[in-house]
Amino acid sequence: MKRNYRIAVIPGDGTGPEVVREGMKVLQAAATRFKFGLDFHSFDVGGDRYLKTGEILPDSVLEELRTYDAIYLGAIGHPGVQPGILEKGILLRVRFELDQYINLRPVKLFPGVDTPLKDKTAADIDYVVVRENSGGLYTGLGGISRKGTRDEVAVQSMLYSYAQVERCLRFAFEYTKKRNQRQTLALCGKTNVLTYVYDLWERVFNEMGEKDYPGIQRDYYHVDATCMWMVKNPEWFDVIVTGNMFGDIITDLGAITQGGMGIAAGGNINPEGVSMFEPIGGSAPKYTGKNLINPLAAICAGQMMLDILGESKAASVVENAVMTVTGEKLKNMGAGRMGYSTSEVGDMVAELTAGSA
Ligand code: IPM
Ligand code: MN
Repeated sequence: MKRNYRIAVIPGDGTGPEVVREGMKVLQAAATRFKFGLDFHSFDVGGDRYLKTGEILPDSVLEELRTYDAIYLGAIGHPGVQPGILEKGILLRVRFELDQYINLRPVKLFPGVDTPLKDKTAADIDYVVVRENSGGLYTGLGGISRKGTRDEVAVQSMLYSYAQVERCLRFAFEYTKKRNQRQTLALCGKTNVLTYVYDLWERVFNEMGEKDYPGIQRDYYHVDATCMWMVKNPEWFDVIVTGNMFGDIITDLGAITQGGMGIAAGGNINPEGVSMFEPIGGSAPKYTGKNLINPLAAICAGQMMLDILGESKAASVVENAVMTVTGEKLKNMGAGRMGYSTSEVGDMVAELTAGSA
């Protein structure tokens, strides 16, 4: 029986459509080679639709998205729209409504890619951040009063339930167990200041680790120290698990150490439901339509999607193709500095993925 996957595609804003187009090219090459089917269905949501019609993410679209095997997203964010409207209305709404409670972000230096950590090589920078993706400061709990006066107060709370922490840590331990031989999971927190929230995280981390994962080494770092070690000793890390806000921040740092937004990908994972895969970088409006943006982040997001769908052979072929292109072809990861256009990079990865078999 032929495996067939229905993929919802949200090209989105700015350079999103260009990078997603290259990603689909590579995914299609993998599908042909490994004999599975991909039906892509594109959804028009993003800044342009909002400016034209006032619609952000219609409920009918959200309901339809629930029926797909996965969602492949380009970028959300438009210079003509006030910050927050599209991010909250589309990206965060999909993450929350589809309960994609894990944000999985690999930090991996590909061969030939420049890193600001000059003495580090591809062997030193290869870890994954498991970012909790449903709660914390992103819950949106809070308020503002006496706005515009000198007595104004604003509060936004970092909220976590035991259940949210538990399911995220469970995912992180299981992921660490399967990932490789290193079997090391680090909790990134701030137990010296956020004594309620990260006390909860630390307790569940230790209880679960002791009871169910005695073979996994547990490390703990405060978030500020995590940033320092990600730069100085990235080889210490195998898997890092953390809350939503810290995860957002440290994965931008991780992305720059792996060569920047051109190559950093992520997955918003609901292990029991519909997951969404996206390049971490934004919509890069100034490069829109110029065929200059680096599509590798979107291609790597597609590779993660294949992996989670169960097509792990196809995923590793795509990853090897990306490594060949970074190692042997591209001059630089930045838009316009690759030595090739967006579509040429997509073509090279697609050809290597198609292979001879
Ligand atoms: C990310 C982005 C989003 C986040 C924004 C656009 C809401 O920064 O995916 O990392 O904060 O999660
Ligand atoms: Mn971010």
